[in-house]
Amino acid sequence: MKDNTILTTDLTDVKLLKRGKVRDIYDLGDALLIVSTDRISCFDVVLPTGIPNKGVVLNRLSVFWFDFTKDIIDNHLITDDVNKFPGQLHPFKKILNGRSMLVKKAEPIPIECVVRGYIAGSAWDEYKNNQTVAGIKLGKGLYKYSRLPEPIFTPSTKEDKGHDINVSYEYIISNFGSEIARRLKDISIKLYNKASDFAEKKGIIIADTKFEFGFFNNDIVLIDEAFTPDSSRFWSKKDYLQDRAPENFDKQFVRDYLEALGWNKTPPAPSLPGYIVNKTAEKYIQILKYILDKAPV
Ligand SMILES: Nc1ncnc2c1ncn2[C@@H]1O[C@H](COP(=O)(O)OP(=O)(O)OP(=O)(O)O)[C@@H](O)[C@H]1O
Ligand SMILES: [Mg+2]
Repeated sequence: MKDNTILTTDLTDVKLLKRGKVRDIYDLGDALLIVSTDRISCFDVVLPTGIPNKGVVLNRLSVFWFDFTKDIIDNHLITDDVNKFPGQLHPFKKILNGRSMLVKKAEPIPIECVVRGYIAGSAWDEYKNNQTVAGIKLGKGLYKYSRLPEPIFTPSTKEDKGHDINVSYEYIISNFGSEIARRLKDISIKLYNKASDFAEKKGIIIADTKFEFGFFNNDIVLIDEAFTPDSSRFWSKKDYLQDRAPENFDKQFVRDYLEALGWNKTPPAPSLPGYIVNKTAEKYIQILKYILDKAPV
């Protein structure tokens, strides 16, 4: 893959709706164009340094998983084929090819639907103190990277600025009603189960992941991204042990670097040295190869 890094896009006359932490979103009237850039965010802060081809990996994986899970839930993808994009986008084909998708314009539900199959990250800190994760009682005897008895749904709010806040299932019921709460939970767990069974056959554990859903034509659809190294923790199954940090193919490597620096996790974020950038780019490509089982072109 060519070593190019795109941090922001500017499609001149095409209306920019917003820049997310990673994606640039353009409003095409009845549809949206989502461009995955090479920006990386850690602890909810966008870093000044990009990861070459990261956006291409995110786009490719999401397209794959959207198709793989469409029997469980409809998703926002219309097409990722730039030749089928509306004519106004054709002058930008070169930038857009491989890192963008035309999607249905949905009304996002402001909840991060997190599913955890394993303990990791902040879940361990809570478990250590209370033997709970997101308030769910788990009993004694779990280790820092243990598989949970069954996958659990641990939603959080989606904050425009700053950190997302963990919320209870009851919070979703009181804000969106019990039918939507039940569907968000059921769909999330089903998506996790189907994708993690598949990934395991490829030697990859999906430790946890998060989804975003939106309303489209009065129905719930999966939006944003699906099972990417930004939204999920991917671990190597080969040498997995429940009490030792597994080899990972996600942002953990960058988080570890930033933790070691002692950065206070508020903007501005420090830039990343070349060896961290290269290693991270390598990890993103590796996970794409594992899941898609073929070398990227
Ligand atoms: N089909 C869609 N319709 C409407 N909005 C969408 C759709 N798909 C994604 N979005 C929105 O586009 C934005 C994508 O932004 P991006 O993924 O870069 O990061 P973020 O949401 O700021 O942060 P993060 O994903 O890291 O929590 C999000 O606000 C998401 O809700
Ligand atoms: Mg997002």
